[in-house]
Amino acid sequence: MSVSRTKNPRVVTTRTLTTMKRMGERIAMLTAYDYLVAKYLDQVGIDIILVGDSVGNVVQGHETTLPVTVDDMIYHAKAVKRAVKNALIVVDMPFMSYQTSIDDAVRNCGRVMKEVGVGAVKLEGGEYIADIVRHLVKIGIPVMGHLGLTPQSINKFGTYEVRAQDRREGAQVLRDAKVLEDAGVFAIVLEKIPSKLARNVSASVKIPTIGIGAGPFCDGQVLVVYDMLGLTEEFKPRFVRRYAELADILRGAFRTYIGDVKGKSFPTMKESY
Ligand code: KIV
Repeated sequence: MSVSRTKNPRVVTTRTLTTMKRMGERIAMLTAYDYLVAKYLDQVGIDIILVGDSVGNVVQGHETTLPVTVDDMIYHAKAVKRAVKNALIVVDMPFMSYQTSIDDAVRNCGRVMKEVGVGAVKLEGGEYIADIVRHLVKIGIPVMGHLGLTPQSINKFGTYEVRAQDRREGAQVLRDAKVLEDAGVFAIVLEKIPSKLARNVSASVKIPTIGIGAGPFCDGQVLVVYDMLGLTEEFKPRFVRRYAELADILRGAFRTYIGDVKGKSFPTMKESY
């Protein structure tokens, strides 16, 4: 499947994802914040590219995602959009761009859809944002949900530890998933919750669940692209599988370049005009 997908990739829409869940085909999602990474992801047949507000951590160097603005998201999403032919692009709506009112949500999500031309937005939160989600979906803005560890609420949680380990919070996550499905989300990210709970949620809704640190029973998986490439070296939670060690490769290349410049072996006459 993956080989033919690479040669002849399909255009992924929100409807494709529902079909994938029904057919038991896993959904592969990664983040991207720039043109080149998005181009390579799209070339090899990624299903969804998330322009995550994790841009605040891994690109901008902030401690949390809270300082990210709608303008930041639009800037990065436009770069990603220029590279992508087939993947569904989903843009994270940043902290305080949709929680404040339906009007704010419409204005800010509307800007992202109109100015960038992406397929969908992602909002963090459960029951308490259901009315906002319902309205956005009604006016034609597809919404992906995000439950469990929701990094925009870090100041409420006080920690990035696994969420919903007790029954009460587990029941709330399940309830939130059903309410969001009823409000019209086309998929839900489940972040850092026990795999048993993620399995239960995935079996209880018809829309796909996309896990990050939520175990193998979700309908798809997502990782932050710089984590899986080994660029965020100090960040080593057990759910991040490293598919490359790019930090070492980058340092090696930079050291060699510095040595070549200082040793006067770069550039040669062949590399000159
Ligand atoms: O911002 C982000 O990268 C995310 C993923 C971790 C799901 O929301």
